[in-house]
Amino acid sequence: MSDLEKISSIFDERIANVKSKEDLQNLKTDFFGKNGKITIQFKTLGSLDDKKRKEFASELNKLKDNLNKQIDNKIISIEEKEINEKLKDEKVDVTLPIRPFRKGKVHPVSQVIDEISSIFSEIGFSIAEGPDVETEYNNFTALNTPEDHPARDMHDTFYLEENKKLLLRTHTSPVQIRSMLKGKPPFKIIVPGRTYRCDSDQTHAPMFHQLEGLHIDKDLTMSHLKGCLDYFIKEFFEVKNVKMRFRPSHFPFTEPSAEVDIGYRIENGKIKVGDGDKWLEILGCGMVHPNVLKNAKVDSKKYQGYAFGMGIDRLAMLKYGINDLRAFFETDYRWLNHYGFDPLDVPTNYRGLSK
Ligand code: PHE
Repeated sequence: MSDLEKISSIFDERIANVKSKEDLQNLKTDFFGKNGKITIQFKTLGSLDDKKRKEFASELNKLKDNLNKQIDNKIISIEEKEINEKLKDEKVDVTLPIRPFRKGKVHPVSQVIDEISSIFSEIGFSIAEGPDVETEYNNFTALNTPEDHPARDMHDTFYLEENKKLLLRTHTSPVQIRSMLKGKPPFKIIVPGRTYRCDSDQTHAPMFHQLEGLHIDKDLTMSHLKGCLDYFIKEFFEVKNVKMRFRPSHFPFTEPSAEVDIGYRIENGKIKVGDGDKWLEILGCGMVHPNVLKNAKVDSKKYQGYAFGMGIDRLAMLKYGINDLRAFFETDYRWLNHYGFDPLDVPTNYRGLSK
């Protein structure tokens, strides 16, 4: 057996026993390292005569290529094995019981916004939004609110600079103006959002949520407003009949204006909405004032309609029996866990809103 044949058979034996990348590295050093078996053979070339050197060099190179190819194949097979073993370890056993984990809950305010949006989208309203930081013009002037109106008072409104041009919106009504200026009539929108007033007690927070409704078209009357609210209240409180009354009121941006009360009674210490001899105020509304339409570039000779605004937090408290508004904004996990909703339970009119 020639030297090269011997080297080749030693190599075959060694590579058959290689199990890891480390083994392979050792093998490589033993054959191709500084004093490796193949390296040493290359070093002998210089002492051979021309003819023999050519022959031997060609054989030696062939052997070298052959061994290198085997080493490359071995790397691939070791890596494949490693991946397969990893996959085996990482296999998910779907029959194992789940680990207990803290499930997030949907805040009652978000839940109620989803419920209300679902109810109104059922009768063709789409959702619009506006910024919390509003101009004095959109929040008051364009809404026909006179210079000396008490709502403009510093005691009620958070102004953001001295000249009182920017403020935190005190209601969602400025989005009426923004929406009408952006589009062309008819308009049929609801606007959920945050609103701000200098106020804080058990039933008032400086930041609270409102939902505005605006419907502008050619032949709308107050009975459309009444029908719309009657539908909404029944759907929202999930009751068949609701006693509702319109009380004359005043808002600068509607004429006539009304406040809406619904009947309720107390049963086992809980509020039951629908009938009974008590009245609860839940929203303000009216027919959009022609001056507002004019300011929003809508022809008030051709178009008219109604608007309403309700307090979302109040509705959530009523529906879900929560009695302190401030708890809404305290981010107490225990509170949320008790009053919150399952994130996968998206409210729809068909399935029942809150079931
Ligand atoms: N913006 C009024 C408020 O905050 C509510 C309202 C909206 C009344 C639309 C009439 C029409 O009290």
